[in-house]
Amino acid sequence: MEKSKEPIIRGLKSLRLLTEPGNYMYCACGRTKNNPFCDGSHRAETDIKPIPVNIKFKYEVKWCDCRKSKNLPFCDHSHRLLPGYQPKK
Ligand code: FES
Repeated sequence: MEKSKEPIIRGLKSLRLLTEPGNYMYCACGRTKNNPFCDGSHRAETDIKPIPVNIKFKYEVKWCDCRKSKNLPFCDHSHRLLPGYQPKK
């Protein structure tokens, strides 16, 4: 069976998470059960690889949850261009 080349869109807003300093593997495929971090699920279904990232200090990271950011693993608001996006009122 051919593996998907498309990431799964998990959410249409950033995933804000208070994150400790350290090295992380961001899930770029959207299939993880430990969002936004890779849990190895990509191996079975895609050729997409996780993205290593080093967080230098503790802060509320805005992780990309739509996987369309041009600045992965961080949100660049690309989700606002996706079908179904509804701005806050
Ligand atoms: S589970 Fe998505 S990149 Fe590893």
